[in-house]
Order: sequence, then C-alpha cells, then structure tokens
Amino acid sequence: MAPAPTRPLDGRVAVITGGTRGIGRGIALRLARDGAHCVLTYRRSAELAAQVVEEIEREGVKGLALPLELGQPSHVPPVFERVGEAFGRVDIFVANAAATSFRPMLEQKADNVRRTFAISVDSFIAAIQAVMPLMRGRAGRIVAVSGIDSFQAMPGHGLLGGAKAAVESLVRSLALELGPEGITVNGVNPGMISTDSSRLYIERGLGRDYEATMAALAARTPVRRSGTVEDVADCVAWIVSDGAGFLTGQTILLDGGLTMVSPLARLASPLAGGEGGA
Ligand SMILES: NC(=O)c1ccc[n+]([C@@H]2O[C@H](COP(=O)([O-])OP(=O)(O)OC[C@H]3O[C@@H](n4cnc5c(N)ncnc54)[C@H](OP(=O)(O)O)[C@@H]3O)[C@@H](O)[C@H]2O)c1
Repeated sequence: MAPAPTRPLDGRVAVITGGTRGIGRGIALRLARDGAHCVLTYRRSAELAAQVVEEIEREGVKGLALPLELGQPSHVPPVFERVGEAFGRVDIFVANAAATSFRPMLEQKADNVRRTFAISVDSFIAAIQAVMPLMRGRAGRIVAVSGIDSFQAMPGHGLLGGAKAAVESLVRSLALELGPEGITVNGVNPGMISTDSSRLYIERGLGRDYEATMAALAARTPVRRSGTVEDVADCVAWIVSDGAGFLTGQTILLDGGLTMVSPLARLASPLAGGEGGA
C-alpha cells in the first residue's frame, strides 16, 4: 500500500490571533490544510470560533479556540500556558488581530491610542515572550500582519499605521535576537483585502460605496484585481514553510503592485489606471 501523502506542516502547532474572521480565519484554514494543528484566539464570538475550529478539524488536524482580549496584554501569557498544556509546543505564531477607531489624529482619544497600541504592539511583545518557552529549539516561525498604513498616509488610519510601523520595526529586532535560535520573524503587509474591516473603513471611515471603491482600486492595481484572504494565507503558508528558512526580518508587501506605482503615472498612464486607463 502506498504511504499516506505528507503535508508541508504535518504535526506542527500554529497559534493565530483573531482567527474567527477575515484574514486570520483564512490563514488558520490554510495552515490546517497544510497539516498544522491550529489554535485560534477570538475576542467576541465563541460560536464563530467554534465554527472555525470545526472547519479546521475537517482537515484532519486538531483545532482549539481560546478567548483573548488583546487590548489587555496581561491576558496573553495565560493563553499561551493553555496552549502549552494542550499541545506542549508551538511551531508557528501569527500575530494577525488588530483594531482601532478610524478618526483623524487630532480627534483621537487617549483611550483609543492606548488600546490600538496595546492590541498591535504591547500584546505582540507579550506574545513573543510567552511563546518562546514553547517554541525554543523548534525552527519556529513568527509572522506579523502589517498594513499599508505603516508607510502610506490614509485618512483615519494614522494611529493604526503608527502601530503597524512599530510592528515592522519589532520584526527586524526580533529577527536579529531569535535568528541564532533558528527562529525566523517576518511580516506580511497586505494591500486592500476584502474583509469586514476593509468594508467598515471604506463605508464608515471614508463614506464611499464599498463595491465601487474596491473595483476602482482593482482597476488601478497592476494585476487588475483586489487581494483576497487566500492571497495573504498563501503568502503566510510559504513564510512558515521549511523552504523559507533563509527569510527573516522582512515584511513582504503583498498588494498586486498597487502601492509601487508613482503618483505621476497615476495621472498620466493608462497602465496605472490614469487618463484613458481602465
Ligand atoms: N482587510 C484589509 O484590507 C487589510 C489590509 C491590510 C492589513 N490588514 C490587517 O490584517 C489583519 C486582519 O484584518 P481583517 O481585515 O481580517 O480584520 P477583521 O475581519 O476585522 O478581523 C479582525 C480579527 O481580529 C480580532 N480582534 C479585533 N480586536 C481584537 C482584540 N481587541 N482582541 C483580540 N482580538 C481582536 C477579531 O475578533 P472578533 O471577531 O472577536 O472581533 C477578528 O478575529 C489586521 O491586522 C489588519 O490590520 C487588513
């Protein structure tokens, strides 16, 4: 009888924050399909989390959902203790969850400043510290999900952009510290991806029609389409694979080429969706 086919992440243990919806869910399902047992954290809906666990387990791996409010960094270590009790190790950690209130910087309340940074920065550091005892000696992979607001000014996104820029900087410092232990640390920076949060930003933050805005962006993107959750999940699946062991300290910009086009080309060239363009 032929041996059962192996999958690239067979037997690995992955933890993904904010795995109930959008990009986090897509990453969890993709890593499960590649053979990893997946722990996802969620904030609000245990029911939604249980549904994703069910989908994960359909891939023949174990799934576990744990509640975690990342706005409270002190809540992070006990979650990793639970993961340790359940699996004894972690091979992959994906810091995906983020949240903010989309307002101009001058209107940001101190509470939201603290909360935005607590979720994306303080809890990221707390998670790395908490995961290390479970990851040490395992050729671990750490991936942080960034955003184009980290380097492009976007209305209402200043605060989250500041937090994401900090995360990209932390990725480099962590890569330097953890490289000698065989652990890589990278980021993925998706362009505009169709999820609940991009809809919320475009409709409520910018007051625009979501479908029409996404279509207009696609027309200005060199590959002529919007990004999908699956695009991001595929990229993460590669970053955490054995084949990506020489990649560390990098944040991969995954936007179909949208942000590399010069503003002048936008005005002048049909290729860039400019005058006479698509
Ligand atoms: N969508 C895009 O176009 C885009 C582009 C660039 C970067 N990103 C980044 O990609 C990541 C995922 O975005 P998304 O669009 O998939 O977002 P989403 O659909 O809004 O999902 C966010 C996830 O994070 C969790 N979460 C939010 N606040 C939390 C908190 N305080 N504590 C714990 N968990 C919390 C949510 O849990 P609940 O379901 O319990 O609320 C949810 O699972 C974020 O880091 C975002 O900045 C997104």
